[in-house]
Amino acid sequence: MSVISKLYEGKAKILYQTDVPEILLADFKDDATAFNAQKKGSISNKGIINCSISSKLFQKLEQKGINTHYLDNPSSNQMRVKAVKIIPLEVVVRNIAAGSLCKQTGLELGTILKQPLVEFYYKNDELGDPLLTKDRLLLLELASEEQVEEIIHLALRINEFLQDFFGKCDITLVDFKLEFGLDSEQNILLADEISPDTCRLWDNSTNDPQKRVLDKDRFRRDLGNVENAYQEVLQRVLKTVEANASS
Ligand code: TMP
Repeated sequence: MSVISKLYEGKAKILYQTDVPEILLADFKDDATAFNAQKKGSISNKGIINCSISSKLFQKLEQKGINTHYLDNPSSNQMRVKAVKIIPLEVVVRNIAAGSLCKQTGLELGTILKQPLVEFYYKNDELGDPLLTKDRLLLLELASEEQVEEIIHLALRINEFLQDFFGKCDITLVDFKLEFGLDSEQNILLADEISPDTCRLWDNSTNDPQKRVLDKDRFRRDLGNVENAYQEVLQRVLKTVEANASS
């Protein structure tokens, strides 16, 4: 397989077309942005760390029967993926109140939600990724009613797996964002990435509200030690994958 041309450059990844039309190459960057790219920076080794974590989680999800775009890794910060048409939705699943949920509802940080909350945001940088109602999403024809139902079902199954998996890493999965895409047969595949950039992950070994943060909130809120936190997540993910493979 060889790379033909750059297809798209996002804030955290570059997608390349390859000589196989059904296969793209995703190159994970060290660049970090927050607040719709108003804050910009770089996290050393983030590309390698996020590519490695995402790859392991996608492989595990595939084993659980969840279809993802993941194929393999030609290098440590690159992922070969199935070409999909991205559904322009950021699907957020929340188990614990944090971030914009607290800001917009007044819920206290750390409130445990009685059941997971699935939310849709319009993936549109110009509009600042606004929160959508289901009716607005259907009005904009971003997905069909059946696709919305399937996405909610998949998001909840993925949440169950990730909660359990991160639990084994001694990490609490607070919330996370998913993106889905359609392949040429209109199957819905999990796409993008699952990493400390796209999840809120709290270390169970401390209750300190700053020390426990192992995700991009360290960058967003200038908490320091960002790379260490990302490395810590990777090490625990690798250890858990290994322990489960041998049991
Ligand atoms: P929020 O609380 O800011 O709405 O974020 C919810 C989750 O979604 C959190 O785990 C971070 C993730 N997220 C992204 O992956 N990309 C984004 O652009 C935003 C705003 C959040």
